[in-house]
Amino acid sequence: MATILPDVSRTFSEYLLVPRLTERNHIPSEVNLQAPLSRDPNGLKLNIPFVSASMQAVSGTKMAISLARLGGMAFIYCSQPIEKQAEMVRRTKLHKAGFVESDSNLMPSQTLQDALNLKAKNGHSTMPVTEDGTSSGKLLGIITENDYWEFEDDLNAPVSKFMTPWEKLVYGKVGITLDEANRQLRKNKKDCLPIIDDEQRLVSLVFKKDYIAHKKHPNELSDGEKRLVVGAAVNTHDYKERVPALVEAGVDVICFDSSDGYSEFQKEAALWVREQFGNKIVIGGGNVVSGEAFDYLVKEAKMDFVKVGIGGGSICITREQKGIGRGQASALMEVVEHRDRLHKETGEYVPLCSDGGLAHDTQIIIALAMGADFVMMGRYFARTNESPTHKVSMQGRMYKPYWGEGSARARNWQRYTEDGSKRMKFEEGVDAYVPIVGSVSDVLDVTCAKLRSTMCNCGSSSLDEFQEKSTLTRISEQSFEEGSANNVSIVENKHNPKDS
Ligand code: IMP
Repeated sequence: MATILPDVSRTFSEYLLVPRLTERNHIPSEVNLQAPLSRDPNGLKLNIPFVSASMQAVSGTKMAISLARLGGMAFIYCSQPIEKQAEMVRRTKLHKAGFVESDSNLMPSQTLQDALNLKAKNGHSTMPVTEDGTSSGKLLGIITENDYWEFEDDLNAPVSKFMTPWEKLVYGKVGITLDEANRQLRKNKKDCLPIIDDEQRLVSLVFKKDYIAHKKHPNELSDGEKRLVVGAAVNTHDYKERVPALVEAGVDVICFDSSDGYSEFQKEAALWVREQFGNKIVIGGGNVVSGEAFDYLVKEAKMDFVKVGIGGGSICITREQKGIGRGQASALMEVVEHRDRLHKETGEYVPLCSDGGLAHDTQIIIALAMGADFVMMGRYFARTNESPTHKVSMQGRMYKPYWGEGSARARNWQRYTEDGSKRMKFEEGVDAYVPIVGSVSDVLDVTCAKLRSTMCNCGSSSLDEFQEKSTLTRISEQSFEEGSANNVSIVENKHNPKDS
């Protein structure tokens, strides 16, 4: 007979934290939000416990750069060709190095209209002019928006007429350090320094705005070479080609992306990657919803961290379609119990990531209190300016499209067909829209402020202390209602958690 678990599947919204003594040193600005990412105690740590989901509508280069700058990390999606994914990783790594490959380049004979079109397409107002119009052609000049007047100048005239020509350019030679390049920018009052090789060919660009952004983000998550840290999802089908390409591009963390990671496929793939790359990269597995599956991925597959959650994602219909899954809180609590037992028995601590279904800041806080070391979110980040989708206007409000990796739109065949064929027989995700909420830093600022404040209420100044000290209580439907504004006529419900 099947085993029937004694408790029902529970979600985070069913719990509240009971405050503990707040001591004098519990001040939000002093709270440390660092979270481990790897079972190696000296391994990589996030500076804030947030990672973005490996989804087409969430994690591209822009998200990876913005999130790492704030101390978190993006998992670049694997439902795309290997070269494209590796390119996104490479671009993220290059960004922090400060030496950026030029995206928007022109030939001297192209017109001012061509320059305007390229600016509109890529959003870059500084464009190198090279002999052949490529990012590695002989540098002949640079054109910026200060060099022309769009509504006055002849749009059919060649860019060579407007650009700052080679003779007047301030440039750096390849091999120059980033510090020296920034000094040159400052000394010459420039916004952009082109870097060239011995044959005057363009190699990269260094921007003043990148230096400023770096200084503004003390929490930035970077590697030993001061490059931004980035993760990437991989699957159990093409990992022998995909993982080496990602490692070559500089990836720091990989995670097997599967709605059900309790499988021999995942174990074989993870052991292969470990054999090839040792501890050069962090390897994560999942998703799981039971202690048994956690033990398997940690003991047999040697994962560095494990992701928890099946069927709770906002765009997910796995539970409806296949009847598998578990309430996110129940799943997390059981896995945490196994993780803590392993820690006690062996001294090895395996970080856990709670993945999916975190619609409100309170749920994020409860997940971390219950024992997740960090959380993965899709919807949360899909709503920001930095997600890779385009905004659409609907009924007077701006939205961004957001679709599941198991939806027909994502065509994530590698993950969703067991027989390896590319044709999907059913969907596990929906195609939806989410209202735009601003930039990643806007939303994370608020979430981090709430988290820090709650941690102080619970007498904690670090996330491990928070897990250790948290006391949670289950709430009845009536006390849930009591928790929102009640028995008053609300003027404007700005605090409705459904909008957070
Ligand atoms: P959200 O933060 O609630 O939007 O959930 C995001 C998570 O849902 C991802 O990190 C995945 O684990 C999961 N997910 C992504 N796409 C699908 C899908 O199509 N079906 C089921 N789960 C999905």
